[in-house]
Amino acid sequence: MVDDPLLKRLVAVRRDLHQHPELRFEERRTSKIVRAFLDDVGLPYVESAGTGVVAWTRDDDRPTVLLRADLDALPIKEISGVPWSSTIDGKMHACGHDGHTAILLGAAAVLARRKDLAGNVRFVFQPAEEGGHGALRMIEDGAWRGTRVDRAFALHNWPEIPFGTWGIRSGGVMAANDVLHVTIEGRGGHAADPHLTIDPVHVAAQFLVAVHGMKSRAIDAHEPVVISFCTMKAADATNVIPDVVKLGGTLRTLSRAARDDVPGRIRRVLDGICAAYGATGHLTVERGYPVTVNDAETAAIAARAAIALPGWTVDDTLTPSMGSEDFAYFTEQVPSAYVWMGTGDADHPHVCHQARYDFNDRALGAGVSWFVNVAEQALGTIA
Ligand code: NI
Repeated sequence: MVDDPLLKRLVAVRRDLHQHPELRFEERRTSKIVRAFLDDVGLPYVESAGTGVVAWTRDDDRPTVLLRADLDALPIKEISGVPWSSTIDGKMHACGHDGHTAILLGAAAVLARRKDLAGNVRFVFQPAEEGGHGALRMIEDGAWRGTRVDRAFALHNWPEIPFGTWGIRSGGVMAANDVLHVTIEGRGGHAADPHLTIDPVHVAAQFLVAVHGMKSRAIDAHEPVVISFCTMKAADATNVIPDVVKLGGTLRTLSRAARDDVPGRIRRVLDGICAAYGATGHLTVERGYPVTVNDAETAAIAARAAIALPGWTVDDTLTPSMGSEDFAYFTEQVPSAYVWMGTGDADHPHVCHQARYDFNDRALGAGVSWFVNVAEQALGTIA
């Protein structure tokens, strides 16, 4: 399905992108390369969300699938030692988005020639997956453009999974990532006279114990929820009880229901503990990426597309990740599937976001073929 000249071209594109990583919303060179490639294979496109690009095979009212890749790199200094290492100090493609972009370009090249599909394909090259909410910007700005989209698909290379295996399952696969800010107001004073104060440090300590207890007592054991408080700001001196303590942390949830439910429970624990000591508590939740939820029927299409690849198998038993992914925004809009492509082998032992990581180019062909199979499986062909 992916002939040698195309594969060679994709390896060259991937390594070129790797040498020139660009951080979120700065993907101008990357975007230009994507557009030049699309021009070459003859697909129309629009620019969107700054550096994003949306291309399509045809744009009519027939069923339409959306295929997505991410463009951005990370602020990490690369030490992989590969000949195509980053040429930009402090920036690298440590998550393989260079590979994802090359794969979707390859799929665009193949699908541009396919006139037999009983529907349309939209290709979304989104900026700023790494914390920039680029997917949301694309949805607001151009991924749909008023046209029909029936299902959305994305893949992510996954070095923890051996090369040759896809991780595909339905339900929540990547967690929502919300940031928690807690302020506890007491009444400060001299550390030698705590009875004359309302010590917010002590209240914060009680709150931390209680909130973790709440997690194990009030939340279904089958509902994955992670609450981690990681920052604590109190007094600057060892003999001063401060007026205020501030805590910061992360809340990870794997279902939309838990995401909506847990902040209220944290707030109740905070209010109760504060009331017991005469302090006042405030909780603000800064909403990050939503839960990436795979639709069962769409995940089944993704699995059929994967099983059809010679030499590849599908594992539907993998544990969901408590990391987050902004493809989640697409999964909120239409039935979607986000899948893990196993890329780990002896030459590629390093996981994503590591300074030694490099995308496994052996996976380029399988990635392209998977997207093409997905389009076939989801749309069918004209007899
Ligand atoms: Ni990534």
